[in-house]
Amino acid sequence: MNVRPSDASCGAIIDDLDLRSLDDTGLAGLRAAWLEHKVVGITGQSLSLEELEAFGRRWGPFGDDPYLGTITGHPHLVEVRREPDERAPVFAGNWHSDWSFLAAPPAATLLYGQVVPPTGGDTLFADLEAALEALPESEQRRLETLTAIHSASRSYAPDGRYGRSDVGRSMTIRSDESARATREHPLVRRHPETGRRTLFLSPAYTVGIAGMGEAEAAAVLDPLFAHCGDERFVYRHVWSPGMLTIWDNRCLNHMATGGYEGHRRLMVRMTVGEREAVTAS
Ligand code: OGA
Ligand code: MN
Repeated sequence: MNVRPSDASCGAIIDDLDLRSLDDTGLAGLRAAWLEHKVVGITGQSLSLEELEAFGRRWGPFGDDPYLGTITGHPHLVEVRREPDERAPVFAGNWHSDWSFLAAPPAATLLYGQVVPPTGGDTLFADLEAALEALPESEQRRLETLTAIHSASRSYAPDGRYGRSDVGRSMTIRSDESARATREHPLVRRHPETGRRTLFLSPAYTVGIAGMGEAEAAAVLDPLFAHCGDERFVYRHVWSPGMLTIWDNRCLNHMATGGYEGHRRLMVRMTVGEREAVTAS
């Protein structure tokens, strides 16, 4: 397997695999590369929805995908779609880790580039382990004592980003009052497979800190959000048609970018993998 790491602290491209015929040894190798690089793009696949699902199932149990419409007959597949003339803001265009507001968020997201625009539409990834490591020891110790509050409210509540005011979007998104629910996770977590420590927060889904008022929490969170998005920790993932990208939600944030007006972009997405409680140690 030819793994080409990016110049950033995370991210790699693999261009000599056929996922339809990958044996168990190959799968173990791919999994190791994924744990090391946190996000891997496997180029040149031509997968039917059934083949994509079958591969996802080998990666781990399927997650639940609240708020997003799934593909008819494929309850675990979501189309991340944008039409050439679409005016609504780009879906997922702010830093987040998928479904971190759940009690047990999905370890991995698999995104398959079915229709990839000729330019733009890159996905940005922020390495939250590198972001933690770059903080002074004393700051790391302080953050380790804090519990973050996550919620989908800013995105999926009726008054959120994808709520009532979100018109003209080709994707099916169902905002709901249930998005206001909150969930607590440690602000610094330990990766259950690699044992590495990482920050775990995002401006999309982290709405507060347990035991702190709004202003006090914002004073902690806002500089941290800025820190995590710093270019030192960011890898820009460039797509090609037929690329399957697998990222680790436990130690990365990610966001979509635009820049492909006049072109369709169509990705097929699944959340897969162990659904573990987020733990500090
Ligand atoms: C997602 C997501 C990013 C993109 O599907 O969860 O964040 O670039 N997508 O489409
Ligand atoms: Mn996402």
